[in-house]
Amino acid sequence: MTLRSTLSTPEGKQRYVRRLFATIADRYDFITRFLSYGQDRRWKRRLIDRARLTSADRVLDLACGTGDLLCAGAARAGSATGLDLTHRMLQLAASRHPGSRLVTGDMLALPFGASRFDVVTIGYGLRNVPDIERAIAEIHRVLADDGRMLSLDFNKPTSAIVRVAYLAYLTVVGSALGFALHGDPDTYRYIPESIRVYPGAAGVARLLERQGFADVEVIPLLGGLMAIHVATKPGLTRGLKATRYRRSICRP
Ligand SMILES: C[S@@+](CC[C@H](N)C(=O)[O-])C[C@H]1O[C@@H](n2cnc3c(N)ncnc32)[C@H](O)[C@@H]1O
Repeated sequence: MTLRSTLSTPEGKQRYVRRLFATIADRYDFITRFLSYGQDRRWKRRLIDRARLTSADRVLDLACGTGDLLCAGAARAGSATGLDLTHRMLQLAASRHPGSRLVTGDMLALPFGASRFDVVTIGYGLRNVPDIERAIAEIHRVLADDGRMLSLDFNKPTSAIVRVAYLAYLTVVGSALGFALHGDPDTYRYIPESIRVYPGAAGVARLLERQGFADVEVIPLLGGLMAIHVATKPGLTRGLKATRYRRSICRP
């Protein structure tokens, strides 16, 4: 079975992603710094700055991995919780950030009640779930009114030439790295494959609006190859207005 066909069903993708991150967890930080030429820390700092956290904020970092965003958020917020599917990632996060509140769980079915958080952050997380819209609906549910979500991820270049060159570059580098580190060229070929089926920054912005988020903003990074999304869950009055507005524009 090819990597592409494995990722083509929600069950196949979830199973693959679970296995992949458990396999690469111990090398994750090195790989991320290597593939981003050390830039990922700068982009994560930018996301945290843009979150404008205060000591009253309750932050949830989804797909927290080894905890970069969680730790940066915890330094500025009142409380911070990290959630990830991969137990090994959480063990590494706990060793790097002792005392963090860490939860093993799935972004598609968050183990939290409604309106529990003021800010949700996600670094390279949305692209990995088999149902992005459901993950966004879950984020919306656990956010309090006027809460913000911020997500950093790869973008999918709109220009066909740039897209082909970019995905080819990631495929070659990813295959070489996967072979060198794990004896399996498919390990990091997952990145370009996941970008291929990802709706891209503009598509994610549309899904955020469809799930009731307002003030959706896309901040391009690295000439648009990456992006940060910022969106707000409108309070009750604004939310009703937005729903009415959406209904009015949907009617013929
Ligand atoms: C690319 S890493 C990102 C880690 C960290 N946020 C960062 O920016 O460095 C993606 C993480 O998403 C987690 N993950 C994948 N699918 C998930 C899901 N459905 N629910 C929660 N976490 C998930 C993986 O275990 C992995 O730790």
